Amino acid sequence: MLILAIESSCDETAAAIVKDGRELITSVVISQIEKHKKWGGVIPEMASRFHLEEIDSVLKLCSDEASQKIPGFNIKDHIDAIAVTNGPGLTGSLLVGANAAKTLAWLYTKPIIPVNHLMGHIAANYIGTEIEPPLLCLLVSGGHTQIIRVDSYTSIEVIGETVDDAAGEAFDKVARLMDLPYPGGVHLDKLVQSITALGDFATDLDYKFKIPDVPGLDFSFSGLKTAALRLKEKIGTEIWDRDKALIAKAFQETIAEFLALKLRTAVEQTKYKTVIVAGGVAANSSLRRRLSEEFANENLYYPPLRLCTDNAAMIAAAAYHLEATKDLGFEVFSR
Ligand code: KG4
Ligand code: ZN
Repeated sequence: MLILAIESSCDETAAAIVKDGRELITSVVISQIEKHKKWGGVIPEMASRFHLEEIDSVLKLCSDEASQKIPGFNIKDHIDAIAVTNGPGLTGSLLVGANAAKTLAWLYTKPIIPVNHLMGHIAANYIGTEIEPPLLCLLVSGGHTQIIRVDSYTSIEVIGETVDDAAGEAFDKVARLMDLPYPGGVHLDKLVQSITALGDFATDLDYKFKIPDVPGLDFSFSGLKTAALRLKEKIGTEIWDRDKALIAKAFQETIAEFLALKLRTAVEQTKYKTVIVAGGVAANSSLRRRLSEEFANENLYYPPLRLCTDNAAMIAAAAYHLEATKDLGFEVFSR
């Protein structure tokens, strides 16, 4: 079964084709990051306009790439269903993808499969692997920080989540305090890696952040962000700038520790032996190191980076297990 999927929930316009939920045929992602850089973050109204500008060329590219693998490829003869992210995400952005998907489904009389974005991040792990539920998923991105219990391909439950900022948001906000470019988490991690490569060293100031005290499996990151701001005010810009790599390291390691501890509790509660990590923050070097120590005895898996961040292949993979409908009246929602 070949599914063509569209993803446009945030700042990536994407289309992909996946066979039987596991085999990647093609995946095209056009990121808006460069366009949003000048504002230091994603402006929802601009994001939807950019999706509208890109959606047709992304679909054309996806189709052209499929022709290289499947001789004579065309949507009408080869695609079995159209999938599309119907939420959560930025409403205007979701509408662009949903509209394109409905148009294709109507034009080629194909069934349509609306897909929850979180289900997509989980399904990214099924592509090119033999991973199967039950499992636990840590989803850490600019918009989400959640521990999701995945009981089957179609049944998931969020068992822990942030009560305020997402982990990626905390990285981005502290990176901004360090005058690092957007998306901050990436650059903050680079800074940390530049000193980690030199080995441990310390200045006269020992930087430490307290692990937030949040009940159960929930998270909170706004206190950490405020602690960083207070630290900057206390030590002054000059020392902050001098020691910013050390501060970034302490900040990033605290987040990694926090995520690892909560995930450990979730593993103990559920007794699930497979742990997968998804979302942009899954690329973080401290998080990867900490999780590989913590889960040395479980099956720990990260999808390749291009499947970790927003893409449409994960939507196609998730759709494979969901029911298709001929009814184009599905709901598009923002939360
Ligand atoms: O999943 P994603 O591409 O988009 C959504 O938010 O849906 O995640 C982007 C987030 C940004 O906040 C970015 O700063 C963060 O992931 N990020 C990182 C790293 N790479 C991306 N944060 C920390 N360390 C990284 N290496
Ligand atoms: Zn996402």
